[in-house]
Amino acid sequence: MKFFIDTANLDHIKEANELGILDGVTTNPSLMAKEGITGQANIEKHYQKICDIVDGDVSAEVIATDFAGMVKEGTHLASLAENIVVKVPMTKDGIKAIRHFYENDIATNCTLVFSSAQAILAAKAGATYVSPFIGRIDDSNWDGISLIKEMAKIYAIQGFETEILAASIRSSMHIVQAAKAGADVCTCPLSAIMGMFKHPLTDLGLEQFLADYRKGNN
Ligand code: E4P
Repeated sequence: MKFFIDTANLDHIKEANELGILDGVTTNPSLMAKEGITGQANIEKHYQKICDIVDGDVSAEVIATDFAGMVKEGTHLASLAENIVVKVPMTKDGIKAIRHFYENDIATNCTLVFSSAQAILAAKAGATYVSPFIGRIDDSNWDGISLIKEMAKIYAIQGFETEILAASIRSSMHIVQAAKAGADVCTCPLSAIMGMFKHPLTDLGLEQFLADYRKGNN
């Protein structure tokens, strides 16, 4: 499973990248706004900064909602850096745009996916990635992880090549569950990635090893 970080925060991206296990970055307009990045020119500069840090795929979301606007904006975003993936919402025009990008060799991430029916449409259109929003599904009292399982099953039966990108991840437990359910990629906030390191027995064990070493080497 690939690891993406879900943020527009450059310090978080650098910290995750330094671990050596980062495969990419996802952003969205809310994450950009959270970092105070406003204005299209600044947003584009910010994408370039992210692409300078990370070699892997970097999702940049279109703001346009009509087919022609998405194609224009997405084509421009894709020209900013080789590793830009155009993030397109799951709508009728979005699906048409994803098909257009597929035919023009531009990688896409179909975002705001909440059902297997939507996931089938994204795969049929040729999306590179499809993003089911696990945390938001859980928030609405459904089971986000069971959607990943169902999508993985359908994609395997049908031989779809679109990669399942588990998004809206809230914890390290979500990451483990997404891996078990068959996600190809997990995009996570830095806190969820760092949470994976934690186990009290690791801390206690290390403390004991060092204490024993010090006893014999003083
Ligand atoms: C990533 O591609 C999504 O935009 C993101 O994971 C959404 O996460 P949220 O539900 O925490 O906003």
